[in-house]
Amino acid sequence: MQNFLITSDFRRSQIEDLLASAAAFKDGANELKPLAGRSVALVFFNPSLRTRASMQVGIYELGGNPVILEPGGTSWTLEHREGVVMDGDKTEHLKEFVRVLERYVSAIGVRTFAELKDWETERTDPILNAFVEHSTKPIINLESAMHHPCQSMADMMTIREKLGPEKKKVLLTWAWHPKPLPMAVPNSFALASAQFGHDLRIAHPDGYALDEELAEQIKGHATANGGSVEFTNDVEAAFDGVDVVYAKSWGSKDCYGNVDKDIAFRLGLRKDWIVDQAKMARTNDAIFMHCLPVRRNVIVTDSVIDSPKSVVIDQAENRLHVQKAVLTELLK
Ligand code: CP
Repeated sequence: MQNFLITSDFRRSQIEDLLASAAAFKDGANELKPLAGRSVALVFFNPSLRTRASMQVGIYELGGNPVILEPGGTSWTLEHREGVVMDGDKTEHLKEFVRVLERYVSAIGVRTFAELKDWETERTDPILNAFVEHSTKPIINLESAMHHPCQSMADMMTIREKLGPEKKKVLLTWAWHPKPLPMAVPNSFALASAQFGHDLRIAHPDGYALDEELAEQIKGHATANGGSVEFTNDVEAAFDGVDVVYAKSWGSKDCYGNVDKDIAFRLGLRKDWIVDQAKMARTNDAIFMHCLPVRRNVIVTDSVIDSPKSVVIDQAENRLHVQKAVLTELLK
């Protein structure tokens, strides 16, 4: 394992091994200190609670030292494009940033959200890939424009803990949110669900389809692993008989570069696309999942997120254990 960027870089056996290692960390059976005397940089272009705290704690618990940098905040603003005349607001190029940083640390974690400006560019994850290109040390994706693999591995761990190792009927449902959000979490959740062989149903309104190329990859992984994928626009029937409800809002790729268009369009979707008790009653007593942060009574009602079937806090805890497994594998 050279980098940790997307779960589909790894075979099923490798991601199964990561879940087993994460479970051992959680049980206290694994007391390895593979980071003793080593530092790991955590570069945050965007805010975070769970990712930042769980990475910082995890690195400490593995014996290491986290170095947190926030370009444009606690470190210089960064340019990542090649050949740019840097006479604007960017102070340092990512080439120097990475080449300097890797002289100090053993790995670099990067959080860099989509800006929702240019779909064809952002779908290629340009900033994350610039880190990969210029670093000789492992790069860990802490949520990029297109993927959040640490989150999806914690999600898979949580489903397995709560419902067992067999494949489940899993619903990924779009939810209303006042403004468009990046697609990294739904992309990675759908991809990992397919890799773990679940029967995946993806519900979204017209205009909010996932990336076509990624959707084909998800179908391929599902077929290869004994699962299935179906898509629906029916927000009521989507809940019928499922074991897992995963709610997440995302922006329309058709509205990249025109956020106001997305905001205006999604206003008409607000009433229907909330996860409430009536929808949960159609499920097979499903667990409720969300990556957090979540807007209560917008994405999900209080009664659902506060119910015993809500596992959102367990998902957040499992970030810690999964990331310790990833760090151990990358730096052993
Ligand atoms: N789920 C998640 O990544 O949370 P943060 O944005 O708080 O890190």
